[in-house]
Amino acid sequence: MDDLFMKNILVTGGAGFIGSHVVRRFVNAYPEYRITNLDALTYAGNLENLRDVEDRENYRFVKGDITDGEAMMALFREEAFDGVVHLAAESHVDRSIANPSAFVMTNVIGTVNLLNAARTAWADGFEGKLFYHISTDEVYGTLGSDGMFTEETAYDPHSPYSASKASSDHFVRAYHDTYGLPAVISNCSNNYGSFQFPEKLIPLFINNICNNKPLPVYGKGENIRDWLWVVDHASAIDVIYHNGKQGETYNIGGNNEWTNIALIRLLCGIMDRKLGRSEGESEKLISYVTDRAGHDFRYAIDSSKLQQELGWTPSSRFEEGLEKTVDWYLANSEWLERVTSKAYRRYYKETYGIH
Ligand code: NAD
Ligand code: DAU
Repeated sequence: MDDLFMKNILVTGGAGFIGSHVVRRFVNAYPEYRITNLDALTYAGNLENLRDVEDRENYRFVKGDITDGEAMMALFREEAFDGVVHLAAESHVDRSIANPSAFVMTNVIGTVNLLNAARTAWADGFEGKLFYHISTDEVYGTLGSDGMFTEETAYDPHSPYSASKASSDHFVRAYHDTYGLPAVISNCSNNYGSFQFPEKLIPLFINNICNNKPLPVYGKGENIRDWLWVVDHASAIDVIYHNGKQGETYNIGGNNEWTNIALIRLLCGIMDRKLGRSEGESEKLISYVTDRAGHDFRYAIDSSKLQQELGWTPSSRFEEGLEKTVDWYLANSEWLERVTSKAYRRYYKETYGIH
């Protein structure tokens, strides 16, 4: 690494939704750090998410797959990374129901490969090093109508996705407890915002409303999620990376619970206004479909530890955040079109000559 940089940080999964916000935040806020974005560019990885920072001197992209243990060892040997912010994952619950093995490979084996590479590269001493693992509230399972997930809640994952994330969390803790690897974990609730792949509820429904396509609501739409603006998640990651205590877990959430159907109605109302449609028109697209198998009823995160110990607070009110998000997708219809038509897959080939 060039001696000009104070810290050398590896961000995995930086071409994805949350990862791109984390890369953007670190590249902009810390010109003195060198940020390496390692991403396999699966269907969810899109380098167009990072156009605004791709030419920065303190940023570089490396195409690589965390399931390749040898390649991870080689990368860590070549680069003296001080820290890892690990976001790379298979992230969509419905895909995990269709193909669980891919989730074991990337989320479990991939994470263990990174832990092995970090432990080997840092064998001379852990001083100044940190492995930060980004995880989900879904590891805690589901809530009834009361209570919230705290850092002490027992793990009880239900979907193949959450089981794979729970397993990866356990491995990170095991490497901390067994080998002393400096590690920290955060578990966050549902994110929304720009650059989210339109398979997830909010961007999928925005896209479908624009195209007058049905809005598939699972079950009765009564399941509850706790929504956080992705920019607030990135700011929490920044705070935890710099001030979190090693060996600790921090829950991140927006204290912002919505039943799916209430959120969808809110979204439909915003879309009617933005598209100049008459009130109630988008709601007509709602179509109740068979429920997701094993669908967790309710998530709600208690983030008071993060707020009290590290001083983080979410910045955005949901109604405003959702409206800003709708504005972003409407203003960036080309991004959405390039994702849905798969044209974005050509961008990195043309720009980087990478296949
Ligand atoms: P995403 O699917 O948008 O992005 C995942 C990224 O990882 C993509 O760029 C993809 O190309 C990359 N990737 C996948 N497999 C890889 C592999 N084998 N090697 C290297 N790169 C690979 O996901 P996201 O929603 O941005 O989630 C990022 C992280 O945050 C995940 O670990 C997820 O579990 C966690 N998380 C997500 C949410 C949410 O609401 N989206 C909430 C809490 C936690
Ligand atoms: O809680 C954090 C998790 O949030 C992250 O760990 C996951 O990576 C992320 O994908 C997200 O998981 P969910 O399953 O909660 O998100 P999704 O957008 O897929 O679904 C949100 C809710 O909406 C959920 O109750 C299922 C429902 N849904 C979803 C889709 C895609 C529908 O009713 N219809 C749909 O078409």
